[in-house]
Amino acid sequence: PTVYFIDADGNQFEADAENGSSVMEAAVDNFIDGIVGECGGVLSCATCHCYVDKKWEDKLEPASEQEEDMLDMAIEPKENSRLSCQIELNDELDGLVVHLPKSQF
Ligand code: FES
Repeated sequence: PTVYFIDADGNQFEADAENGSSVMEAAVDNFIDGIVGECGGVLSCATCHCYVDKKWEDKLEPASEQEEDMLDMAIEPKENSRLSCQIELNDELDGLVVHLPKSQF
């Protein structure tokens, strides 16, 4: 599936990823600035924070309680905030749009 990342300035970046990989991995593997993924995807850093585009929010599995707790540590969390390491890609999410926060720290 292809994921589109839009940064805080409105620039769009495209990343191709395998089914089963996470949005965080898609970003890191494609050198997309803005997603850090410091902990490697084990829900202990919140530097993979992103905002899911409104059009896609309903298509994602809801965040776990553990993810919600970690999101409190993110910079400027919003209602559509997610940790991108917890979003697993599949064919249904082809074309997913996520917005990058201004900063992860
Ligand atoms: Fe650390 Fe997502 S990569 S919480």
